[in-house]
Amino acid sequence: MKKTIVFPNNREVLNLGQGTWRMGEDESKRDAEIEALRTGIDKGLNMIDTAEMYADGKAESIVGAAIKPYKREDLFLVSKIYPYNASKERMFDSCEQSLNRMGIDYIDLYLLHWRGDVPLQETIDCFEELKSQGKIRDWGVSNFDLEDMKELLSLKNGKNCQTNQLLYHLASRGIEAVLTDYLKENNIPVMAYCPIIGQEPELRKKVNKSTVVNDIAENHGITTIQLLLAFVLQQDNMIAIPKAGSKEHVVQNIEMFDVKLSDNEMTSLNREFPVPDEREPLDVQ
Ligand SMILES: NC(=O)c1ccc[n+]([C@@H]2O[C@H](COP(=O)([O-])OP(=O)(O)OC[C@H]3O[C@@H](n4cnc5c(N)ncnc54)[C@H](OP(=O)(O)O)[C@@H]3O)[C@@H](O)[C@H]2O)c1
Repeated sequence: MKKTIVFPNNREVLNLGQGTWRMGEDESKRDAEIEALRTGIDKGLNMIDTAEMYADGKAESIVGAAIKPYKREDLFLVSKIYPYNASKERMFDSCEQSLNRMGIDYIDLYLLHWRGDVPLQETIDCFEELKSQGKIRDWGVSNFDLEDMKELLSLKNGKNCQTNQLLYHLASRGIEAVLTDYLKENNIPVMAYCPIIGQEPELRKKVNKSTVVNDIAENHGITTIQLLLAFVLQQDNMIAIPKAGSKEHVVQNIEMFDVKLSDNEMTSLNREFPVPDEREPLDVQ
């Protein structure tokens, strides 16, 4: 289901973007990866998520190559900084390198990849400095649990955080126990990573074996993986960023804009893959 998601700064994006983890790792896949990203952009997926970590910067280089034909202002580029680089000594160089690899002069949303040892206030101050230098438009975090979010929002300028990028899919719904409500109350959208279960073959098998999942997928004439994505796209306050390394997969993913699961179907999925009753440790990849 296609939705528009509004960040706290009032910038708007669609609830589907493109992930890039594992892009750039295999030179023989380069052309297909660039073609996949361009197919997505051509069909309206202007948000791309990457990180300095992915393939040691080579994923950012793939993004840079893919976006060359497009106008910078038509794109929404997200990158992430390693926690150990998120300090006043290192963040400015890291950011510059990400900009160079992508061939751009600003990042739309720059995220702290996960919480490390650098004091949060120092990281926020660096993000704010990068904003005033025009190197980033905004910043956010990733893999922050409830306590981390509470602490972040209590710090100076902490409320400028635009998103929390979290693992979320039909078979991993721990964040719905409390974290998603807290983020919603604070108008902070979730960027759902691994929305189609990434590289977890056992979990994928579990979903594929479910009669409920198979019946609903069949009813809509879609694959079970497409159904996983349709489920995430139906959530409120959430952007899904599946990674697709081929044009065909991108097209299949975009088709999920047109799928609306009925209330009965959502109820059946919720029963089959319930939200845990109690908080669990944050699921991360
Ligand atoms: N913040 C964090 O800590 C964090 C952690 C993990 C991921 N992420 C971000 O989130 C993005 C998504 O997560 P992810 O890449 O781990 O997992 P994912 O998007 O859930 O799954 C990616 C896998 O699904 C396959 N796929 C894509 N579309 C498909 C389709 N229509 N039919 C069948 N298979 C399909 C891909 O294969 P092909 O490549 O062959 O298309 C790939 O193997 C990442 O790329 C990254 O940008 C962030």
